[in-house]
Amino acid sequence: MEFVIVGFSLLALCQAAALPNFVLLFTDDLGYGDLGFSGHPSSLTPNLDWLAAHGLRFTDFYSTSPVCSPSRASLLTGRYQTRSGIYPGVLYPGSIGGLPLNETTIAEVLKPLGYATAMMGKWHLGYGANGTYLPTRQGFDHYLGIPYSHDMGPCRNLTCFPPDVKCFGICDVGTVTVPLMKEETITQQPVDFIDLEDAYSHFATEFIRNATQKHQPFFLYYPSHHTHYPQYAGWKSVGRSLRGPFGDALLEFDSTVGNILKTLKETRVLDNTLVFFTSDNGPELMRMSRGGNAGMLKCGKGTTYEGGMREPAIAYWSGVIKPGVTHSLSSTLDILPTFARLAGAPLPKVQLDGVDMVDILFNHGTGQRKAMFYYPVDPSEKYGVFAVRMGKYKAHYYTRGSAQSDTTPDKDCGLFTPLTYHDPPLLFDLESDPSENYRLNVKARPELVSVLQNIKDLKDGFEASMQFGESEIRKGTDPKLAPCCNPECSPKPQCCRCGTTL
Ligand SMILES: *[C@@H]1O[C@H](CO)[C@@H](O)[C@H](O)[C@H]1NC(C)=O
Ligand SMILES: *[C@@H]1O[C@H](CO)[C@@H](O)[C@H](O)[C@H]1NC(C)=O
Ligand SMILES: *[C@@H]1O[C@H](CO)[C@@H](O)[C@H](O)[C@H]1NC(C)=O
Ligand SMILES: *[C@@H]1O[C@H](CO)[C@@H](O)[C@H](O)[C@H]1NC(C)=O
Repeated sequence: MEFVIVGFSLLALCQAAALPNFVLLFTDDLGYGDLGFSGHPSSLTPNLDWLAAHGLRFTDFYSTSPVCSPSRASLLTGRYQTRSGIYPGVLYPGSIGGLPLNETTIAEVLKPLGYATAMMGKWHLGYGANGTYLPTRQGFDHYLGIPYSHDMGPCRNLTCFPPDVKCFGICDVGTVTVPLMKEETITQQPVDFIDLEDAYSHFATEFIRNATQKHQPFFLYYPSHHTHYPQYAGWKSVGRSLRGPFGDALLEFDSTVGNILKTLKETRVLDNTLVFFTSDNGPELMRMSRGGNAGMLKCGKGTTYEGGMREPAIAYWSGVIKPGVTHSLSSTLDILPTFARLAGAPLPKVQLDGVDMVDILFNHGTGQRKAMFYYPVDPSEKYGVFAVRMGKYKAHYYTRGSAQSDTTPDKDCGLFTPLTYHDPPLLFDLESDPSENYRLNVKARPELVSVLQNIKDLKDGFEASMQFGESEIRKGTDPKLAPCCNPECSPKPQCCRCGTTL
């Protein structure tokens, strides 16, 4: 190993010859306050609670966007979504664009070192003509899942809970029903939600067993559809939490985490595997009691308040990472550089926005990240970043509510709260006021003038370094590109049905 780390256990050093395995767990629209360990009174998350108790829990961990596709682009590339063009908003089933194939994903960083790579769950980085943008084209050997959000197809008559509870809501109409894909082939359309999570569990077990039997290091990426709308769960989880549909969906995700941990134990690789858990963006508060909860944080999905982008996160590595809590500033951007460093893989030769978290993981150190920049759902060069966090301070230059955070009592969060420019910026101390309730009075506290100046310098430097990639989302949609298991059938989209008794 090229780095010497205090506290890095002897066991790990003995195993240094073997490359570490990585399991990356990523939930969807899950809030800061949704988990058992973060204090939710009726969530049932025994496996995530166990990971939190035996791993390193992050209190100040951020995604790069308050919505899905951009957040995933940053996670997999270590670069803000603006560079790869995954803005504004999200990709759709018929989107012409996708994550450009010349972007380097975590899977592509690890594969040249001999890693087996697999992904199951929600891709949401494009499908494109004949599946041009599928995960199998971005470094994943195996894929099982729905290539975008599971509400991006009519769901009115689909069953979301057994024995036959229909999905709540109608989801997106006028497009194909959501497909289940194995590698690049559609195996079911519409997908059967009741059996989906079991299929994922089996896939994960098989993948880990395959790799360990061949003594191959592996990377498993599991971005779950849970706990995005519409909530669903199978026989083992339905009705088991006190929290209703959201709680049952979350419990089902938690059970898969438990199965993965069990498989890691059975294949005797737990001591050589870093398990990292976090979420893509804040809770979709407009779903009300069927949506997530940001806990003490302000607003949720769609906004650049803390509730939109601050996420629960855990790093677990048995015998290597000391259990505890870190307040270091960290981000999904930092996962690619961290995995690369631990595996000894060269970094992609592009402008990265991530820094490795090795000092945080092994020394409980403060880490290298100086700032976090908050882009809105629709980043533009004209407005730049909406907010900046530096140390404990956060400055909002622009604020705006969002439909996705509507229905909360806080009037700043909702759909009708317009874009507002703040000069001087709204300044908060997130250590003493994580809820962004009490604006700091810069006039009364002259020492804050230099804080604002330092933040502005960071912002100017960052924006000068930012080259917006061509927007992949503005390339638009073509209904003919949406995945159809029966490409020659008509009339579309209704005729796209296969492998299902529904
Ligand atoms: C990918 O290709 C596009 C188009 O040629 C280019 O603009 C972009 O900079 C490239 N991105 C990377 C990461 O190389
Ligand atoms: C997909 O591939 C088939 C067979 O190669 C081809 O006929 C079709 O035109 C392609 N579709 C698109 C949208 O490129
Ligand atoms: C759902 O079921 C109803 C009643 O059976 C039917 O009229 C309707 O066409 C179905 N909708 C879809 C999208 O399949
Ligand atoms: C595991 O290996 C078997 C046999 O080679 C193969 O058929 C299967 O696709 C593999 N599964 C995964 C998820 O890697």
